[in-house]
Amino acid sequence: MIKVSDALMSFRNMVLPEPVFDFWCAELGLLSRRQAAVARAVKVVSETPNTVSIWLKPNANFVGVLPGQHVNVGIEIDGHRFQRSYSVSGVRGRCFRITARKVANGKVSSYLNQYAQRGMRFSLGEVYGDVTVNSFAQKPALFLAGGIGITPIISMLESWSQTMRHQPVQLVYWGKTTQDLVFIERLKNLAQKHSWFELKILETQFLERNADGTPRLLAETSAWFQELKGRLTDFEAFACGSDGFVDQIRERFSPLVNTFQFESFSPLLVAAEAGVPIQVRLTKQNRTVTVPSGVNLLNALERAGVAVSSGCRRGTCNTCSCNKISGITQHQGDRSINEAMASGFKPCTQSALSDISLEM
Ligand code: FES
Repeated sequence: MIKVSDALMSFRNMVLPEPVFDFWCAELGLLSRRQAAVARAVKVVSETPNTVSIWLKPNANFVGVLPGQHVNVGIEIDGHRFQRSYSVSGVRGRCFRITARKVANGKVSSYLNQYAQRGMRFSLGEVYGDVTVNSFAQKPALFLAGGIGITPIISMLESWSQTMRHQPVQLVYWGKTTQDLVFIERLKNLAQKHSWFELKILETQFLERNADGTPRLLAETSAWFQELKGRLTDFEAFACGSDGFVDQIRERFSPLVNTFQFESFSPLLVAAEAGVPIQVRLTKQNRTVTVPSGVNLLNALERAGVAVSSGCRRGTCNTCSCNKISGITQHQGDRSINEAMASGFKPCTQSALSDISLEM
């Protein structure tokens, strides 16, 4: 027997199919969609000369995000859709904040820094990340942040500032100059207001250099480190910053703490033209193959000797789908560029624009 609700749903879909409903909602500036998660910018804050924060109000289809987690965010620029992954820098109710630092040749970060404004619309994708505000709720926490790596940490700190936290939190925050340090006034206010929170700021322009010219992030003999070192045994540590930052920090701090987790990032090099050799890391097979950029990825993988299950070869059967862990890819149909982690990634519809990693 057909349920009344199912019958009503079929009738609604017949009268107003999903694409038509979504199109007109978008045209009318509404956030309603049948299934898609979308959001509207409700507040834009210029944090530093090259960093912007955007508060987003999602529609009812968005699953929600916790402080510390990442969310895939899509935006249309000059007729092309781009997707980026951001760790949220704040959460208030269902609204959340993303923060973008302008990077050289960064299409989306440059656009947001220049043009972000209230009312701007975004599509929302997957939410992921195991390091969340809950991971440190009942434990002393040591946070180690480099530059824009502060984003997941500020969201957790601001969340705890609304609760009765008792466990200590120590943050050491490195940036090249004070201009590179984001949320600095907010962090200082939190440290003044809450006895559980201590803040140490280090400007790397004043630090000694390693042999390779990178700043020596930690002077073992410094008084603050000697003082801190003795009380870290029970701490759960979390570091976030560039690959080089996390490598240095992990080596120094992981022997001192109870657990050490980290998230690191590095700017991806994008192939400017087709045919440039791209490394594809296949994590399940524990091997790496080389394919040309800009060509159909399923064909390229097969030519490189990788056996990929496939069916339709045009994105409809789902047979070739896998998880994309990292890297920049381009949809060969709508030309949208995607830098975010993704499940249900279909190599038969994509080409690679940078080195990528697939769970395959
Ligand atoms: S082969 Fe069918 S979706 Fe890729």
